[in-house]
Amino acid sequence: MEKFIKSDMNYLLGIVTLFCLFLLLFLIFIILTILFPLVSSFFSKEAPFVPTSMKVVREMLKIASLKEGERVYDLGCGDGRIVIEAARHYKVKAIGVEKFFGTWLLAKLRNFFYGGKAIILRDDFRRINLSSAQTIFCYLLPEIMADLEKKIKKECFPGTKIISHDFKIKDWQPEKIKKVGHSTIYLYRV
Ligand SMILES: C[S@@+](CC[C@H](N)C(=O)[O-])C[C@H]1O[C@@H](n2cnc3c(N)ncnc32)[C@H](O)[C@@H]1O
Repeated sequence: MEKFIKSDMNYLLGIVTLFCLFLLLFLIFIILTILFPLVSSFFSKEAPFVPTSMKVVREMLKIASLKEGERVYDLGCGDGRIVIEAARHYKVKAIGVEKFFGTWLLAKLRNFFYGGKAIILRDDFRRINLSSAQTIFCYLLPEIMADLEKKIKKECFPGTKIISHDFKIKDWQPEKIKKVGHSTIYLYRV
C-alpha cells in the first residue's frame, strides 16, 4: 500500500514539475515575444504606443462620417482599437497597419476577440499603398507626419479624409477641429 502511495506521489510530482516547466517556458515566450516588443514600442522614437481613449476614438469615427464599404486605414494602429471599432459599427473595410510585433499581436488578438472584422497588417505604413484609401486615421509624431504627408500627396485621390489625433499636418488647413477633453482631432481632406 505504502509503495502504491509513493508511486502515486512521484507521478503527481512529475506532473506538477512538468506543468511548472511549461508555465515557465510560456512566461519566457510571452516576455520575449509580447511584453518586450510592447515595452520597446512605448519607447520608440517614431511614435510610441499611446492608445487613443475610446471616447476620442468614437468621436474620430463620427467626424470621419464613414460610409458602408469604405476603405479605412489606421496607420500605426497600436492595439487596433480604431479599425476594430470602425469595422464593427460602420461596416467599412478597416485596415490597421502596425510596425511593432508586440502591438501588432495585441491588435490581432483584440480583433479575433471582437469577431475578426478588421484587417491587421504588420508593416511600416511607408510601404503601404494608400491610393485606395478613402479615410486615413493617424496618431503619429510630427516627424512621421511629414513622411505621411509626402505619401498622401503622392498616392491619395482628392476627397480622401485624414483624421489625425493631436498632431497637425504642417501647412495644411484642417476642414474641422474638435476638442475632446485634452485631445484635439483634426479632419483634413486631400
Ligand atoms: C500613438 S500610437 C497610436 C495607436 C492607435 N492608432 C491609437 O490611436 O490608439 C502610434 C502607433 O504607431 C506605431 N508606429 C510607429 N511608427 C510606425 C510605422 N512607421 N509604421 C507603422 N506603425 C508605426 C507605434 O508602434 C504605435 O503603436
